[in-house]
Amino acid sequence: MRRVRSPHSGALAAAGGALALLCAAAASGPRQPIAFSHRIHAGELGIGCTSCHVYAERAPVAGIPSMARCQGCHKFVKEDPEHPQVTAELKPLVEILANGTAIEWIRVYRVPDHVHFTHERHVLAGVRCQECHGEVEKMDVLSQVTPLTMGWCLGCHHEKQREKPEGRARLTECVTCHK
Ligand code: HEC
Ligand code: HEC
Ligand code: HEC
Ligand code: HEC
Ligand code: HEC
Repeated sequence: MRRVRSPHSGALAAAGGALALLCAAAASGPRQPIAFSHRIHAGELGIGCTSCHVYAERAPVAGIPSMARCQGCHKFVKEDPEHPQVTAELKPLVEILANGTAIEWIRVYRVPDHVHFTHERHVLAGVRCQECHGEVEKMDVLSQVTPLTMGWCLGCHHEKQREKPEGRARLTECVTCHK
């Protein structure tokens, strides 16, 4: 189940010219303290989004998983002699888990403080994670792929009103998103 890895991979640098590198840089998110890959975990291993982001269905914030969630597997998944790069990326994680410290992940998606957003309502209404965050299960490095502008929010809210008008007048009222 091996793969070509994105931005910090030697394979990509070797494969592409300046243009490929530019594209990769433009598409990539922040470099996280640990090279956690959604493609491996949510894609190849098929772990469900809400099994790590456990609050998405019942709270405003989706939540970043605690280290205990990683520990459950990485107590056992430590060495992969066939794939030295994976083993190298796991080393800092094993150290962090041993020390009991938390990882300070760099935030990728954020709306300004004056905007009210809640995951719960969207997830319960059947809006898929991917509509707002892209095909996360294909990303080694997670990046922001939607603009999070007011126009973007309203575009979808207008569309949802047209699909099913009853009870959805609020979707386009200022106070719904600005308290
Ligand atoms: C269901 C089990 C499972 C859980 C839960 C899990 N992992 Fe993994 N993780 C794996 C497996 C399997 C691999 C692949 C190892 C390989 O290819 O040899 C892996 C690979 C990795 C790697 C190295 C490869 C890479 O680039 O991602 C890192 C770093 C990592 N995991 C971090 C984490 C972190 C951080 C968490 C908690 C947020 C976590 N994992 C939760 C099973 C898990
Ligand atoms: C094994 C646990 C795990 C699974 C499964 C997982 N995630 Fe994550 N997710 C993380 C971790 C750890 C981070 C923080 C590091 C990062 O940004 O890559 C994160 C970050 C994110 C972020 C960025 C948060 C921010 O900083 O704004 C989004 C969006 C996200 N995940 C969506 C998803 C979606 C959608 C799925 C399912 C397709 C998914 N995740 C599956 C562990 C997981
Ligand atoms: C309607 C669009 C939308 C949907 C659907 C959505 N998100 Fe988000 N997500 C956002 C926005 C906007 C933010 C930034 C929120 C903020 O700054 O308060 C965000 C932030 C996040 C974060 C980081 C902050 C936090 O809440 O913990 C994670 C993790 C995340 N989303 C995961 C998910 C997962 C997993 C799903 C599916 C179960 C999902 N999102 C569905 C729009 C969405
Ligand atoms: C892809 C479509 C989509 C996008 C993008 C989207 N929303 Fe929504 N939003 C919905 C749907 C669907 C509902 C739930 C409607 C229902 O429950 O009937 C909803 C509901 C809400 C609610 C609760 C409304 C209420 O009645 O209290 C808030 C607040 C909200 N959205 C804010 C935002 C913000 C802020 C953004 C942009 C950062 C955003 N949404 C982007 C589809 C979307
Ligand atoms: C569906 C959610 C949503 C609704 C409804 C909404 N807004 Fe916004 N608004 C946002 C988001 C997200 C931002 C921040 C991103 C941006 O500036 O585009 C924002 C930003 C703003 C800003 C700040 C712009 C800046 O330059 O900082 C103002 C002012 C504003 N909205 C006014 C309004 C008014 C007035 C209404 C009603 C006519 C309204 N909004 C309805 C989501 C919404």
